[in-house]
Amino acid sequence: MYNDNPTLEGIRQIDEQRQGEVYFQQMPEEQATGAARHFYIESYGCQMNFSDSEIVASILAKAGFRPTRQLAQADLILINTCSIREKAEETVRKRLRLFDRIKQQRPGTLVGVLGCMAERLKAKLLEEEKLVDLVVGPDAYRDLPKLVATAEEGGKGVNVFLSREETYADISPMRLDSNGVTAFISIMRGCDNMCSFCVVPFTRGRERSRDPFTIVAEATELFERGYRDVTLLGQNVDSYKWQHPETGQWVNFAQLLEMVAQIHPDLRVRFSTSHPKDITDEVLYTMARYENICKYIHLPVQSGNSRILKLMNRTYDREWYMERVEAIRRILPECAISTDVIAGFCTETEEAHRDTLSLMEWANFSMAYMFYYSERPGTLAARKLKDNVPLEVKKRRLQEIIELQTRKSLEHNLADVGKVFKVLIEGNSRRSDQHFKGRNSQNKMLVFPKEEGLNPGDYVWVQVDEATSATLLGHIVDAPQEEMHK
Ligand code: SAH
Ligand code: SF4
Ligand code: F3S
Repeated sequence: MYNDNPTLEGIRQIDEQRQGEVYFQQMPEEQATGAARHFYIESYGCQMNFSDSEIVASILAKAGFRPTRQLAQADLILINTCSIREKAEETVRKRLRLFDRIKQQRPGTLVGVLGCMAERLKAKLLEEEKLVDLVVGPDAYRDLPKLVATAEEGGKGVNVFLSREETYADISPMRLDSNGVTAFISIMRGCDNMCSFCVVPFTRGRERSRDPFTIVAEATELFERGYRDVTLLGQNVDSYKWQHPETGQWVNFAQLLEMVAQIHPDLRVRFSTSHPKDITDEVLYTMARYENICKYIHLPVQSGNSRILKLMNRTYDREWYMERVEAIRRILPECAISTDVIAGFCTETEEAHRDTLSLMEWANFSMAYMFYYSERPGTLAARKLKDNVPLEVKKRRLQEIIELQTRKSLEHNLADVGKVFKVLIEGNSRRSDQHFKGRNSQNKMLVFPKEEGLNPGDYVWVQVDEATSATLLGHIVDAPQEEMHK
């Protein structure tokens, strides 16, 4: 989930929910007394960043800080940042200027930049933006309490060291802004791919996988606390690989999925993101064996043209991608697939652009995140290729991609009218407290009138009556016959 692209409805929704939002969780009594210092944290970018903010919150809570939703109450203002596109960084710079005004009103307030922009710009952030007191990269969060102390004494609180080992495996994240039903679990960090457009390998460092037993323990604890849906997070989950230090045994992603799925049949398991070059049939067959592994795969294609894919260094071509989609359809006929697309990458011709459109037409994606190419300093593409598609052309192509996908999403959703889905209730619908919202296995959001005795975290069966390109509207029905006998 990426929240700097204003062109998309889905993304705008995330924006509205997330931007400027602060996280809060009731603290244990003993810590709620005294003149504790407060931190405020705001997150941008992908789900991994939101997940990291929960790790940061946990580390700060241990050091005696309390979370607050109010900027005005904060002694420490943190912004967890994203560098993926230029726009993402502009948004952060705007927020930093606002924080600076708060600092002037309340001298002594510290402002810290965390995450990918901290890593990309390093100490430059302290110099350029005099307003910043702390710069902390994604692998240095354990150091935060110490860095805060340094900054309080007037020193420079900088740590942007990238680690080969850090997975924060032992830290139990403080669930921020939680609905108590769905949660994210980081299973790996970093990325070893070198997609030529992408800044992530530079901001997040080398790929490393987290101990599977700590993942299972975290998911089990969530289930015991009432959570019913966990999403396993990584930039490329299919390359998850962990070796037992004593037995030497390897655990791959399919095996990890199975371990988490076995915790309880009522715990839904999702994952993101899959890389088309790495997703294996073993993963697909594991998904088929477990009803509680959701039938939904986010499989970013980026482009439908093989020459462009080669320049992007994605290491698959159009035919390979289509074969993987066919394998999903064969092994998991009920599975929905979504994607990411970049319009106007270096040297993209009209013909190459039409290849993207025709692939999207063919693949029948349920949803897509769509962007136009934004050159990022230091990446392979910035060094080796010319960003030679004019901005108006990029924007026009993106518009065509969005229009096509909006039509396809509507068709995909209309095909669900009349069907009955098992839905996990997540809470009130955004528009009315007389309606619940919840997702089906295919990750589609359903909205339906409430019925007595039901609560978030319960499963219900919902028949779809109407569809828009973003939502399914329906009503609760009895469980299908075969379910009643289970
Ligand atoms: N690890 C994931 C993607 C992470 S970045 C994967 O490999 O699929 C999320 C998305 O942002 C990418 O899939 C891509 O579509 C988009 N993106 C990344 N860098 C970009 C850039 N420089 N310009 C435009 N979009 C970009
Ligand atoms: Fe970036 Fe490619 Fe890694 Fe995804 S797989 S994070 S696009 S380098
Ligand atoms: Fe952005 Fe960093 Fe995620 S660049 S998309 S926050 S890994």
